[in-house]
Amino acid sequence: MKRNTIIAGNWKMHLSYPESVQLTEQILSEYKNYINNHTKIILFVPFVYAQSIARLCLHRGEIYVGVQNMYPEKSGAYTGEISPTMLNSIGIKAVIIGHSERRTLFHEKDEFLAKKVKSALEHHLIPVFCVGETFEERENNQTQEVIRTQVTKGLFDLSSEEIKNVIIAYEPVWAIGTGKNATPEQAQEVHSYIRSLLQTQYGSSVSDTIPILYGGSMKPDNAAQILQKPDVDGGLIGGASLKAQDFIAILQSVPQSNA
Ligand code: 13P
Repeated sequence: MKRNTIIAGNWKMHLSYPESVQLTEQILSEYKNYINNHTKIILFVPFVYAQSIARLCLHRGEIYVGVQNMYPEKSGAYTGEISPTMLNSIGIKAVIIGHSERRTLFHEKDEFLAKKVKSALEHHLIPVFCVGETFEERENNQTQEVIRTQVTKGLFDLSSEEIKNVIIAYEPVWAIGTGKNATPEQAQEVHSYIRSLLQTQYGSSVSDTIPILYGGSMKPDNAAQILQKPDVDGGLIGGASLKAQDFIAILQSVPQSNA
């Protein structure tokens, strides 16, 4: 089963508005040279730039704009929050849900994240649902248990039809922003474990179709080896997505067998 490869940038809370436009324009001017029918790009941008960046990327079939969070209600008295319907109205296609920075710094719990995933799907937004263990959990051999809990609580209330529209990102917390990436073997091991959980719950006709991205210090010099693993279907890239040359270099390292 051939899955799309997805190269996604998570800009987090970086860049000024002019810098974000410049980065987008650089990516738009180059990506065509390195992309094929099975590769898609998603730029997860700060809310305030989302509409402008979505306009810049309009009518580019393979490049989508997403945001890094959302509130699960359609509208209401939720001061400071952004709803899925608002995102729909400015052409946003995807949303990161459950990033470890949201789980840790903003105390977002599994049940709340499950609600967000459901709401995103109801509004035709693609949720990129993040899971990952801390260094301590890995050291204590709890990686599988942590991943199983996050996947089960976050996603397994979904129907087979619903989950087919979800993307999962494995982001080991100890690899995020540290310069210390998971080895290709460590990534493959967890990705195939996630796929086995999906298979048990939904069957292989579903588990074979769901893209599982790797995130955590992915860079031009390690991307090719990680991306060539069979259950790694792309990357969710933080730091290296802020420089057009690095992001494009990662795009170039998508294995030709995936092309
Ligand atoms: P880095 O690539 O900077 O480690 O960040 C990964 C990440 O958190 C993407 O969501």
